[in-house]
Amino acid sequence: MSMLEKLRGHLPEPCLEGKTIWTDGEWRSARHGSTFTNVSPIDGSRLFDVARGMGEDVDAAVASARAAAPAWHAIGGAARARVLRAFAAEIRGASASLGLAETIDAGRPIALTGASGAQRAADLVEFYAGLADKISGRVYDMPAGQSASMVREPYGVIAAITPWNYPLANALTKLAPILACGNTVVLKPAEQTPVVTTILPELLRRAGLPKGVVNVVTGLGQEAGAALVSHRDVAKVSFTGSTQTGRRIAALAGEHLKGVVLELGGKSALIVFDDADIDRAADAAVFTSFMNQGQTCTSCNRIIVQRNVLDEFLTRCRAKLAKIRFGDPLDPMTQVGPVVSKQQMERITRLTDGVVPVPLDLDCFRPTDGGYFVKPLIAVDFDPESAFARTEIFGPAMSIRTFDDDAEAFRLANDTEYGLAGSCWTSSLARAEVAKSSVQAGVIWINCVHVLTPAVPVSGHKSSGIGIEYGVDAIEQYMRVKSVVTLAGGWTSPFA
Ligand code: NAI
Ligand code: MG
Repeated sequence: MSMLEKLRGHLPEPCLEGKTIWTDGEWRSARHGSTFTNVSPIDGSRLFDVARGMGEDVDAAVASARAAAPAWHAIGGAARARVLRAFAAEIRGASASLGLAETIDAGRPIALTGASGAQRAADLVEFYAGLADKISGRVYDMPAGQSASMVREPYGVIAAITPWNYPLANALTKLAPILACGNTVVLKPAEQTPVVTTILPELLRRAGLPKGVVNVVTGLGQEAGAALVSHRDVAKVSFTGSTQTGRRIAALAGEHLKGVVLELGGKSALIVFDDADIDRAADAAVFTSFMNQGQTCTSCNRIIVQRNVLDEFLTRCRAKLAKIRFGDPLDPMTQVGPVVSKQQMERITRLTDGVVPVPLDLDCFRPTDGGYFVKPLIAVDFDPESAFARTEIFGPAMSIRTFDDDAEAFRLANDTEYGLAGSCWTSSLARAEVAKSSVQAGVIWINCVHVLTPAVPVSGHKSSGIGIEYGVDAIEQYMRVKSVVTLAGGWTSPFA
C-alpha cells in the first residue's frame, strides 16, 4: 500500500485535492491555483499536492482571523479554557490519525508520534487551558481619589510560523498560549510537513472553537510566510526554525514595528566530568544526538568530556549506538527513522563531508527503500573552527572534544553563537552549582537531558532566540498591557 493510501481516511477529503488552506471555517485552494508537492521521507513518494498560498490567501486568512478576534476575547477566559480542554480530549481521541500523519510526512517513528505524541500534545494544551481563566492585571496604590490599574488584553491576530521537525508539538506550542489569551491566529506550517495541520481544524471545530479563530495557510516561507510577517493586521509573529530565517523575520517585523517570539537554532553542549556516572552520561549523549535523527533544536550533540574518561565514555557510546533501531518509522519497534527531506539529507552530508568518523558497528542501521536516511556519525578528531563544529547540523552527528579542567569545560561549552540548552553530568554538587551559573543557555539539564514539561519555560540565549516557549511566562508575550488612570475629583491642568 502506498504512503498516500495509508493516509486516506485519516485526512479531510478536500485536502487530498490540494485544498489545504483553512480560512473562515472552509478548506480552499490557493486563490491563483498553484500547488507544491509534498513527499514522504520514508520512501520519497509523492503524498498529495498542497496549496501554495500567497499574498491574497494570507489577506483572506488574516481578515477571517481579524473578524473572529473580538468575540473570542469577549467570551472570557473560562469559556476559552473549556474549548481548549475539549480540544485536548479531541487530540487524544485522534492519536492514531495524528500519529500516522506525522510519521508518514516527517519520518518520526510511530512509537513516538501516535498515542505518546498525542498525550504530550494534549498535556500542553491542557496546561494553557488551565491558565486561560487566570489572566489578570494589577491595581496600583494611588493617593485617595485616584485609581490606576493595568489590564492585559490580547493583541488580535498573531502569525505562527512553524518548522518541520515536530509538526504537531510545534503547532500546539504556538496555538495553545495564543488562543488561551484570546488572540486569533494564522498558522503557516513548514512546507515539508503540512499534513498534521490538515487534521487540527476539524478537532478544533468539534471542541467548539468558533470559525475564523484558527486559520491555516500552507505555502512557502518566502511567499506565505513573509506575507504574514509584513501584513499590517498581524500584530505579532511567533516563529520556530533556523536562526538564519529568524533573523530575516525579525528584520521584516522590525520594519513594521511588530513584536516577535523566536525559538531558533542551537549547538548545545553536553559536559561529562570524570566523577559522573559514565554509563548514564553515554546513554544521554547517544539519545540526545540521534533521537529524531538529530533534528531537535535542543539537541546537546556537542559532547565535552574530561580527557581521562574519554576512552571509557566513547566505548560505551559505541556500544549503545549499535543497539539503536534505525529503520522504517512505521514499524512500532523503530527508534530512529529517516531525516525529513532529500534537501536536509544533502545538507547534512555536505556539513559532515570530510569529517573522520569513529568506526561504528551499524548492523542496526536498516534504511527503507528510497528513504532519506543518513548514517549516524561520531567524530573525535575534527577542526574546531569547521562548519561541522560550528553550525547547527540537524542530523545524526555527535562531536566530542576533551578538556582537562572545569574552567576549560565551561569555556568550550560557551564557545558558540548559540545558547539554547545544555546538559551537565557530575556527581559533585559543587560542580553542578557552577554549571548552573556558567553555562549560557535557556535550559540546563543536570544529570539528565530533554526533560521538558509544559510548565518549564525554555528561552533561547544569544542567537538561539527572543522570548519564551512553554510555562506560565510564555503567556505574557501574547497579551499587551493597557493602563487606566481615574481621578475622582477632576483633573486640573498644570497650565491653569
Ligand atoms: P526554516 O527556518 O527556513 O523554516 C522554518 C519555517 O519558516 C517554515 O515554515 C518556512 O516556510 C518558514 N520560512 C522560511 N523563510 C521564511 C521567510 N523569509 N519568512 C517567513 N517564514 C519563512 O528552516 P529550514 O530551511 O526548513 O531548515 C534549515 C535548517 O534550519 C535546518 O537544517 C536546521 O539546522 C534549522 N532548523 C532549526 C529548527 C529549530 O527548531 N531550531 C527547526 C527547523 C530547522
Ligand atoms: Mg513531507
